[in-house]
Amino acid sequence: MSLRMTFNIVMTAAMAIGLAMAWFMTARISAQEAKSAVLAEAVAIMEAADAVRHYTSLQVQPLLDTQMHAQFLPQSVPFFAVQQTMDKLTERSPGYLFRMPTTNPTNPADRPTDWEAKIIEQLASDAKLKEMIVERSEDGRDLLSYAQPIRVESETCLACHSTPQTAPASLIDIYGPANGFGWKVGDTIGAKIVSVSQEVPRARARKSLVEIMMGLSGVFAVMLLVLNGLLHFSIIRPVRRLSQLADEVSLGNMAVPEFPASPNGEIGSLALSFNRMRRSLVTAMEMLGD
Ligand code: HEC
Repeated sequence: MSLRMTFNIVMTAAMAIGLAMAWFMTARISAQEAKSAVLAEAVAIMEAADAVRHYTSLQVQPLLDTQMHAQFLPQSVPFFAVQQTMDKLTERSPGYLFRMPTTNPTNPADRPTDWEAKIIEQLASDAKLKEMIVERSEDGRDLLSYAQPIRVESETCLACHSTPQTAPASLIDIYGPANGFGWKVGDTIGAKIVSVSQEVPRARARKSLVEIMMGLSGVFAVMLLVLNGLLHFSIIRPVRRLSQLADEVSLGNMAVPEFPASPNGEIGSLALSFNRMRRSLVTAMEMLGD
């Protein structure tokens, strides 16, 4: 096998192994990055939801206090404001979903599904648990869900959520006396859950992976080309020329010109040795001829 062929086979195999390793590592890193991007989005949405809740309870609720005696206005309820705002957001961006499933909810729409009930159960079983991350599939979509517990932290909640008798009559008129009561301070009554589709960041990660691999393959191709050029001009061509000259000399043709050799490098020193040998051979032949 020629030197060029051996060199190219070895180099291509080494580059293919390098590319495979780079693919494996980049794929892992970009999958991790896609996941942390999704998680960061979910956390940001959760913070936005909390901001809406604080705004409603500090700025809207006090203004509607007097009207509440005449008529119950759910607009003043912080959790109502949160759900309404988040519904608008998820309506515009279908990749997101925000829910506040509650084991015994005032609004039946907040009843937990099976997987939500499991999250609430787990959050309720450990009072120190502040958040949970759950990955799941729904309708063929991979989703990442970020959950935080909803705990009754103060007596103020009990004005509406303890018994139907203590709750405003106008609340009972709208929601009825059956649900959303019997909560106690310290109870974990439900969870806030942001679900984000992983499709978009995964597609983004796949695209950048392909781009990185194409870039690397390009670099490898250029390297192979440059190394082939180097091999040709600094090794293959001079060695071929030297071998031709050696052939000529071995066949008795002493008139061949000397190999133009530079004193640097291995090929240069081989050429110098060859020239010296040729000269000695010529002298020996001349002496023999005499
Ligand atoms: C003025 C009465 C009132 C007070 C006080 C109140 N809530 Fe509510 N809460 C409601 C009503 C009414 C709803 C149903 C809103 C809707 O239609 O989505 C609700 C809904 C909720 C929900 C959504 C799940 C569900 O039950 O439908 C949670 C969670 C919740 N409240 C927690 C709390 C907590 C925690 C506090 C105390 C910080 C509190 N609430 C104080 C009236 C109140």
